[in-house]
Amino acid sequence: MVTRRDADGAALSSVSAAGIVAMMLTQLGVRPGDRCLEIGSGGYNAALLWRLAGPEGRVTSVDIDPIVVERARACLTAAGYDEVEVRCGDGEYGAPDAEPFDRIVVTVQATDIPPAWREQLAEGARLVVPLTMRGVSRAVAFTLTDGVLVSDDYEVCGFVPMQGAGTPDSPVAALHGGQVRLQQDPTQQVDAAALDAALATPRVEVWTGVMTGRNEPYLEHLDLWLATQMPQFCVLRADQEAVEAGVVEPTWAVFGTPAVTDGSSFAYRAWRDEGSPDGAEIGVYAHGPAAESLAATLATAHQEWDRGQRHRPQARITVHPAGTTDTQLPHGYVLDTAHSRLVIAWPAPPESR
Ligand SMILES: C[S@@+](CC[C@H](N)C(=O)[O-])C[C@H]1O[C@@H](n2cnc3c(N)ncnc32)[C@H](O)[C@@H]1O
Repeated sequence: MVTRRDADGAALSSVSAAGIVAMMLTQLGVRPGDRCLEIGSGGYNAALLWRLAGPEGRVTSVDIDPIVVERARACLTAAGYDEVEVRCGDGEYGAPDAEPFDRIVVTVQATDIPPAWREQLAEGARLVVPLTMRGVSRAVAFTLTDGVLVSDDYEVCGFVPMQGAGTPDSPVAALHGGQVRLQQDPTQQVDAAALDAALATPRVEVWTGVMTGRNEPYLEHLDLWLATQMPQFCVLRADQEAVEAGVVEPTWAVFGTPAVTDGSSFAYRAWRDEGSPDGAEIGVYAHGPAAESLAATLATAHQEWDRGQRHRPQARITVHPAGTTDTQLPHGYVLDTAHSRLVIAWPAPPESR
């Protein structure tokens, strides 16, 4: 439920869905006595943290918006949780005068891990953060191990974007009057007008022969895997209006559908459900002058995932400070952000171990 919007109607603050709150608290694993920091306040999650940490623990919650802070304080006091400290500030910097923390939970969408979050964690402590990696959002659970954040779980999620110093800078190409959006890496050069024109050209379709149920859990890491395989990777999102009008037919309109672009053409994943007991077939729709080759690239990546990666465990994500040299990084896909070098490492196929 959205509780604050900006002048253009975009969501700034919301009460997180109960299922997502429960999932992230499970990832966080709060123990009695833990010192907890929540970034992004509302009241409900902070109250749950306080219940889990108990009277020996401590809960600090930081929100950048004074109106949210006031409301969260009033709600917590009314519910009998006035020992939770709610403060106004940019969570990018954590809560330096209250560190160290055993548990930090970020409840706003981040695109980077600022140094404060790592520095304010005790060794062996946990950080759970909704992190966008090349447009793909996952709630990632990390443990601080020898100064490095090492993941042990990630789950699909979506939060309102971070404001303040951590405001995302990823460019979005708005097509069809803004109802269809392609989110790219800052490194990708795209021509929004050319992509808009491409959308008006006839659709190229390719079907992969890869069958899947819509809710199979391994899809949670398929999209992240694709993001680490293709330099042209981007993510397509669309308003329901555009989907209903048949302008685009993506697999996940709101969370984002894997796509690829060369800057003036694009291809994205689609489903075809013809009632097969094996589920729906994965396909690709593409538009623009390079539609056929981009469709083939995305289709081939799905077939490779089906053959080699589909039944393997999740990737291990590690976060290293920006400035770490390549030779100091573990093997894997490296995603460089302003403050960090994220390494996304997939388990090797059994034959290459
Ligand atoms: C999804 S809401 C938090 C929900 C809350 N944890 C609950 O219990 O329902 C996200 C919040 O993050 C806040 N926010 C955005 N950027 C922030 C930042 N840089 N530092 C702290 N809070 C921020 C927003 O003002 C918004 O209130």
